[in-house]
Amino acid sequence: MRKTGIFITFEGPDGAGKTTQALKLKEYFIQRGIDCLFTREPGGTSIGDKIRDILLDNENKKMCAKTEVFLYAAARAQLVTQVILPALEQGKVVICDRYIDSSFAYQSFGLGEETDFVLTVNEEATQGLYPDLTLLLDVAPEEGLRRQRERYSKGSKAQDRIEMKELEFHQKVRQGYLFLAKIQKERVLLLEAGVGEQEVHKEVIKAVEDLFLVRDVQV
Ligand code: TYD
Repeated sequence: MRKTGIFITFEGPDGAGKTTQALKLKEYFIQRGIDCLFTREPGGTSIGDKIRDILLDNENKKMCAKTEVFLYAAARAQLVTQVILPALEQGKVVICDRYIDSSFAYQSFGLGEETDFVLTVNEEATQGLYPDLTLLLDVAPEEGLRRQRERYSKGSKAQDRIEMKELEFHQKVRQGYLFLAKIQKERVLLLEAGVGEQEVHKEVIKAVEDLFLVRDVQV
């Protein structure tokens, strides 16, 4: 069936505040009576959540890079088939906290897996579904990791396998994202995460309104 809804993703290094912004955007749509579905990666389905547990488990230190690529893609395939495509077919707005660009930044730039391999696997997994708009929240890894440590010290959760990787890894991930913003200008909007929650939210709304205007949807 033809896709009719709108697909928006949030991306960025760990600690950039994506989840906060994604949930604020969901709230914005709800207040306007727009049917909106929020989901996140890795996970978003019961099968995907089991894969997430394997991926983020601190015990799995021996996981090789290719296993990582396939596991993220497997969880993504399930999410696209079971959740995202059906919602888009019903004309909903779908907001996803991380998607294919996370694999581009983390598995390709961070871990050094061939970009072509990562993209080929993921294009199969997603049936070629790319977002209409990707909001990329940029933060220096030192600042992002500091923000996360602050969250953990308040007891929200423990550091996972990916977050525990060294600073150099997170720097490569950020470079991957910055490169993506350069080569996918028509889809990816780069936003400075350090300017404050409300400022970022305003920029997000502006980008969404522009997209809706192009699509001729009332907000
Ligand atoms: P999560 O706790 O959801 O972190 P965040 O709040 O930053 O999204 O953990 C997801 C981790 O998985 C995060 O460190 C990024 C990583 N990841 C990849 O490496 N590749 C991917 O394709 C995806 C979706 C996530």
